Amino acid sequence: TQEEECMGSVKAQLAKIFETSLKVTVPNEPDVEPLIAACTGKFGDYQCNNAMGLWSKIKGKGTQFRGPPAVGEAIKNNLPTSEMIESCSVAGPGFVNVVLSKNWMAKSIQKMLIEGIDIWAPMPPVKTAVVDFSSPNIAKEMHVGHLRSTIIGDTLARMLEFSKVKVLRRNHVGDWGTQFGMLIEFLFEKFPNFEDATETAIGDLQAFYKASKLRFDSDPAFKERAQQAVVRLQGGEEKYRRAWAQICEISRNEFHKVYQRLGVHLEEKGESFYNPYIPGVIEGLTKQGLVEESQGARVIFIEGVNIPLIVVKSDGGFNYASTDLAALWYRLNEEKAEWIIYVTDVGQQQHFDMVFKAAKLAGWLPQGDNSYPRASHVGFGLVLGEDGKRFRTRNTEVVRLVDLLDEAKSRSKATLIERGKGEQWTEEEIESTADAVGYGAVKYADLKNNRLTNYTFNFDQMLNDKGNTAVYLLYAHARICSIIRRSGKDIEELMNKGTLVLDHKDERDLGLHLLQFAEVVEEATTNLLPNVLCDYLYNLSEIFSKFYSNPECKVIGSDKETSRLLLCEATAVVMRKCFNLLGITPIYKI
Ligand code: ARG
Repeated sequence: TQEEECMGSVKAQLAKIFETSLKVTVPNEPDVEPLIAACTGKFGDYQCNNAMGLWSKIKGKGTQFRGPPAVGEAIKNNLPTSEMIESCSVAGPGFVNVVLSKNWMAKSIQKMLIEGIDIWAPMPPVKTAVVDFSSPNIAKEMHVGHLRSTIIGDTLARMLEFSKVKVLRRNHVGDWGTQFGMLIEFLFEKFPNFEDATETAIGDLQAFYKASKLRFDSDPAFKERAQQAVVRLQGGEEKYRRAWAQICEISRNEFHKVYQRLGVHLEEKGESFYNPYIPGVIEGLTKQGLVEESQGARVIFIEGVNIPLIVVKSDGGFNYASTDLAALWYRLNEEKAEWIIYVTDVGQQQHFDMVFKAAKLAGWLPQGDNSYPRASHVGFGLVLGEDGKRFRTRNTEVVRLVDLLDEAKSRSKATLIERGKGEQWTEEEIESTADAVGYGAVKYADLKNNRLTNYTFNFDQMLNDKGNTAVYLLYAHARICSIIRRSGKDIEELMNKGTLVLDHKDERDLGLHLLQFAEVVEEATTNLLPNVLCDYLYNLSEIFSKFYSNPECKVIGSDKETSRLLLCEATAVVMRKCFNLLGITPIYKI
């Protein structure tokens, strides 16, 4: 089973040891959770922070202890022996500092090398999750917001997949709005034989959308027909369904170009998919007494929110919220998802807040936010241009995402040529490196920020080979690979026959950071924060540099060569896993 394969993070393993001690130290307080954190100071690697809290719990109850430091002292003394721990000390008001055994650390890293990085994967308590991301709207622009959703959602899905969760990657495309009435009617008008050559006829779907909107707004007769068209489409009339399907197909092909460049895989289950489930779901909620009449519409009132959630519009039609309720119901009941994650801009926060609260009222979701099944909204900020305003191109038109990605790639290709790779590398190597660097740069620039903040899109910055950028990190990885190559050693053989040791301080610092990978991915996954992983990766590369540039830690030709090569390899393996989780393709030479 997975439990046997995975060791759990260092933090989790220490928590187990401290749990044993706490049971002995305060037998009358059976439910105390060990509070373990990585140390920021230099007194240890980890610390246990339970003493103070425990003291305030037990001081009135005739305890033998005389203050938090004494509690800390007892926690320390009651620790079972463990090969993990080198030494312990109590500091200040009872913090128990732990120095890890460097032998244990070295052995754990070597074990990871031999068995693979999967043994450091988190173990979230869910089997199936839905990640609802990207989700552009048919016939409308797929804008930079959708790009953020695509990049962030893909990373979250990858982190869960690494944790052995079955992830349903859902593209909840907007394919069922009232805009289809006008689009279909306009299609009939412009191209009576639409089925023969829609794609070539329409050309640019966004321009088509604009033109039909203009017609819709200016001609009442057209508007009337468009509204009829919606009804006929939703009633399932053949010709209307076919026109709808054609328009969706054109959009889909456009979206696909973006996904292909980014290497993102998604399964489309658009709004239309959930449409048949809406009436039943609303009926259920109504039977539960949750749906009320308000100004002709049917709504759910939610405590603490000043507007109600409209589930049936006053004209009897369904809306975005009705669809999301049906989708949530479907995901919970039909797909048996235990964690449903929605990645959209923060502007939709209130919408999801209301939908989730309605689901709690209905008893679909438990009350507390920390239990499962769980629904989480992963919000993100705006993408800004150099001028601090919403990202646009010069002529204020929206940015075509494909153009944006193409530019990132062509810029990184130009840099490779400038560096003379044109003569040294094959065309294919140049192409694939330019892909990795260009798309990697766009992804990393987005992911490294706390997603809730706005971020400024800047090619020069993201493609800089210094600082916290994908380029810097990808090069750092390539350099490690070249160290290993230059050694001429068979790394597999070293792994199994050699021994990794962490005698030098810089080796030990690097080893500790490597070991912390497990708890960092766990944190990034639990809190749905990819930037936590980016910070980790950047620090890893800095700590590696410190080790590698220290003459005392010479790798090739030193008497510690085997051990240090293994440390290089472990760094490369962890970096590659980080890249993999961030959806970035590593490069191996530069
Ligand atoms: N189509 C929406 C938009 O472009 C995003 C959909 C997000 N997912 C959802 N289940 N509502 O804003």
